[in-house]
Amino acid sequence: MDHAEFRRQGKEMVDFIADFMEGIHDRPVFPNVKPGYLREMIPDCAPQDPESWEAVQADIERVIMPGVTFWHSPHFHAYFPTGNSYPAMLGDMLSGAIGCIGFSWASSPACTELETVVLDWLGKMLQLPECFLAGTSGEGGGVIQGTASEATLVALLAARSKAVQKFKTEYPDMSDHDIMSKLIMYTSDQAHSSVERAAMLGAVRCRKLQSSEDLALTGPVLQAALQEDRAQGLMPFFVVATLGTTPSCAFDNLQELGPVCRAEVMWLHVDAAYAGSAFICPEYRPLLDGVEFADSFNFNPHKWMRVNFDCSAMWIRKRADIVDAFNLDPLYLKHDNQGLVTDYRHWQIPLGRRFRSLKLWFVLRMFGVKGLQEQIRKQVGLAKEFEVLVRSDDRFEVTAKVVMGLVCFRLKGSNELNEQLLKQVNEGKKIHLVPSQVRGTYFLRFAVCAATTESGDVTYAWDIISQLAGEVLEGQNSQNMAE
Ligand SMILES: Cc1ncc(COP(=O)(O)O)c(C=O)c1O
Repeated sequence: MDHAEFRRQGKEMVDFIADFMEGIHDRPVFPNVKPGYLREMIPDCAPQDPESWEAVQADIERVIMPGVTFWHSPHFHAYFPTGNSYPAMLGDMLSGAIGCIGFSWASSPACTELETVVLDWLGKMLQLPECFLAGTSGEGGGVIQGTASEATLVALLAARSKAVQKFKTEYPDMSDHDIMSKLIMYTSDQAHSSVERAAMLGAVRCRKLQSSEDLALTGPVLQAALQEDRAQGLMPFFVVATLGTTPSCAFDNLQELGPVCRAEVMWLHVDAAYAGSAFICPEYRPLLDGVEFADSFNFNPHKWMRVNFDCSAMWIRKRADIVDAFNLDPLYLKHDNQGLVTDYRHWQIPLGRRFRSLKLWFVLRMFGVKGLQEQIRKQVGLAKEFEVLVRSDDRFEVTAKVVMGLVCFRLKGSNELNEQLLKQVNEGKKIHLVPSQVRGTYFLRFAVCAATTESGDVTYAWDIISQLAGEVLEGQNSQNMAE
């Protein structure tokens, strides 16, 4: 593909994408394929001779689209949303064209500098405390990680390194290995699995603490666990609090956890992967109160802020904590401004990094803060509409407070009944939902995901659920009568 051909085919691709986005409403949200479907549709080996773009393009509809789950269909209500917008796509396109690897300032100064400045913009939108902003002389700053899972792992590794140093001064006879074997971190029983996984990868103990009635981790529970574990000779060092948990969008009590972490000298990491985007709206910002106690904070603009995956924003109170933990400087990576500028390779696990801030920058500029606030409010409004429909039907119950764009609900009755309902809903492939379970109770999660979801799509989903509920209940009644 030469320049002229790219101009032609690239424009056609843009038309294809616009048609795809415009028509996504009419595609089945969930694919109708069996595992291994794709292998049979393409050759066993790569072609020896180049193929034409026309041949490649023809396979997009033939091979790929039948096997895609359309996360941006207005009938997709599973998991949490993933962001998507034309400005972000253009940012990714340009990032691909520039194709730099921004591991150090010198490896592409704009890649580093835009990221730092745009994360300051975003931090200000969230009203993060000043200490998290890089500014021109701050000690903190932001970085774009690939995912919230990486952000948690990076925070854990930095906290572990800091804790080992601290305990070595307190217990000079202990080796690094001895200390590591006694470190313990805490999170709630509602935290995302990536938190426990980070503990596995970081080879530290993780204790999942019981959340309260409203599914929040509280200060007294953490305090009691610390006392117990210290008495056993363990060394608490790290706490992950969640704002907007995955099962039910619950919020840990940061204002209680923060002072405990401060007093006990433990690193506090806040995971707000989904809910974080909403904090740009003043009415949701109080849910972030207590972040002033955190050492690191993370949320995913790639979830709910119209930025295409991957773009996970992380801020660190004292960037030296992270840089000191991961700093290795082989000669081939050194440059003249070393030490004076940010070298993002020290803030992350891989060396290489893409120019991800472009898409974030484009989105922030082209939606503006007001445009982004509007879409958050619209989606929360749609979730509330769904909640009203559920509450108006006696057969159902809402199982968690609806704070943002997620409604957790179930048929009054057994878990099996609700499993059957979900099976029917998803087998119909008209809408797509996933379940969750808290303390033995199975429920369905209705998340407002696509930016194109409208009120009509909410009632469409509810009509399907409500009708299938009738069938499932009828089936149960007939079975009861037969027994
Ligand atoms: C609260 C929370 N934390 C972490 C994650 C993991 O996100 P990522 O895929 O960015 O690692 C999720 C995913 O939904 C989440 O809800």
